[in-house]
This record gives sequence, C-alpha cells and structure tokens, in this order.
Amino acid sequence: MIQDPNDPGMPPEAPEQRENDEKDEKDKNVNKADEASPSATPAAPGAPAFPRRIRSFVTRAGRVSTGQRRALDELGPRFVVPYAASPADWDTLFGRHAPRVLEIGFGMGASTAEIAAARPNEDFIGVEVHEPGVGALLKLIDEQQLTNIRIIQHDAVEVIEHMIEPGTLDGVHVFFPDPWHKARHHKRRLIQPTFVALLASRLKPGAYLHCATDWQNYAEQMLEVLGADPSLENTAADYAPRPDYRPVTKFERRGLRLGHGVWDLVFKRRRQ
Ligand SMILES: C[S@@+](CC[C@H](N)C(=O)[O-])C[C@H]1O[C@@H](n2cnc3c(N)ncnc32)[C@H](O)[C@@H]1O
Repeated sequence: MIQDPNDPGMPPEAPEQRENDEKDEKDKNVNKADEASPSATPAAPGAPAFPRRIRSFVTRAGRVSTGQRRALDELGPRFVVPYAASPADWDTLFGRHAPRVLEIGFGMGASTAEIAAARPNEDFIGVEVHEPGVGALLKLIDEQQLTNIRIIQHDAVEVIEHMIEPGTLDGVHVFFPDPWHKARHHKRRLIQPTFVALLASRLKPGAYLHCATDWQNYAEQMLEVLGADPSLENTAADYAPRPDYRPVTKFERRGLRLGHGVWDLVFKRRRQ
C-alpha cells in the first residue's frame, strides 16, 4: 500500500510495521457488536451466502486531507457510484462497453490508477471502504485525466453480491488484502471458500482472479482456497510470477529489500 504522508488515516503496510500496528490498532477496533450484527442486506438470488456476521475490515476514522475532500466533492459525483442493492448498468456508467475488471480494497489507489492508465481499453471498478483512499484515487484520476475508473465506497462483499451480475467480469484484483495475522482473526480474511465462490460466479468463463500478498501464511491459505474451488483453475503450478501489469509498490519494494516474500496467485474461471 502506498502511504501518502498527507493521509495519516492509512495504516502503514510494511510487514515489520504492520504487526505492531495491527496489534495496537485492530485489536482495539475489532468490534464485538460488528461481529455479531446480522447482514444488512439479504443475499442476491443464486449467490452463495457469505457469512455476513464477520467483516474483512474495521471502520477507521482516518483523516481526509483538504485535497482529498476537494476531490471527493468535485469528482465524486462523476466517478463514485453510490452503493445500491441491485445490479448496476456498468455500460451506461462507463459510457461504453469494454472489458471490465474489479479491484477489491484499492487502499490509496496508486496501483489502480497505474493499471488503468496502462490499459485504457479496459474499465476498472474499484471498491474501497476507507474514505481517504477514495479521495486519494479521485486525485489520481484527476491528475492523470483517467476516464476508465469508477469507485464504490462500500463493503466489496455486498457490492459483488448485489451490483455485479454473474458471468460479467473479465478480471478481479485483490492486492495485499488485510492479512489479519492473528489466528483468532483469520475468519476476517477475505479469501475464504464462500467469498471465492461468489467471486468466481461473477467472472466470465476464462476470466482471471489475481491475488497478491506479502504474508506467507495468507498466501498458503489463498493457494488452498482458490485451488479447492471447482470453477477455478490455476494458471501456474502454484504461485505465479508477478504479472507485468501489477506495479511493485513502495512498501513492497522495501519489504523485498528486507528479504520478505511476495506471492502472486493468478487463477482463471474454467470454461466448461
Ligand atoms: C492492506 S490494504 C491494501 C491496499 C492496496 N490494495 C495496496 O496494495 O496497497 C487493504 C485494503 O482493503 C480495504 N478493505 C478491506 N476489506 C474490504 C471490503 N470488504 N470492501 C472494501 N474494501 C475493503 C481496506 O480498507 C484497506 O484499504
């Protein structure tokens, strides 16, 4: 995750910092009431039921900088799609019909913007719950005059259940999802069988699901869960080489220098 010094709301991503951060931050914030709350919206017909009692994120206050606030106010109406519990008309929202890739948890949006700039013939739906991150990506959209990104500020699980129709996505990116490193928090990890089944159902046959993590234990869980989904097949023997389109983030580069690993997993939906 790129950390912008003007955006103190985002947690640092470097593994050595993250451990302390998560102890101090997430332990404090994991809200028992949140864990026990029932689903806000019922599962869409035909969608696998995701255990909505447990969320993959905690609500963080996170300060929105002046520039991010301006971007939210001025560009939000054009690029931010309000959450709705019904399928969105993406062709109308993008103003064209093009291959469509969804990214879950884009953080500050640096990778999202870089990929969207490099792939102008594709459209990118970014989902993120953290408002400073939404503001940061809007700033990048403005700076780079990008037209092929739309943002939803909402829980990606509900977005995928309700706003994305089955068999419509050309790709899904899940880059460095929160690792929830303590065993008792593993239930909060995004990459779990029911959610992967939901994701796979939204892919077109032959479309890809690309996950990346710098936590070995989460990489192993990803490999096991993705490998066990009958509608997905691995494009590699196990972990994949980093595809050229995924930028190496500042923190990833530093982690690599310190000898930490990064694992990419690229699966495709079976065509049968
Ligand atoms: C560790 S950060 C990684 C950010 C970015 N992908 C990167 O590589 O720098 C994970 C992000 O996922 C977001 N997130 C976690 N669960 C989410 C969910 N269910 N829906 C939307 N965003 C989520 C968090 O707010 C956080 O910004």
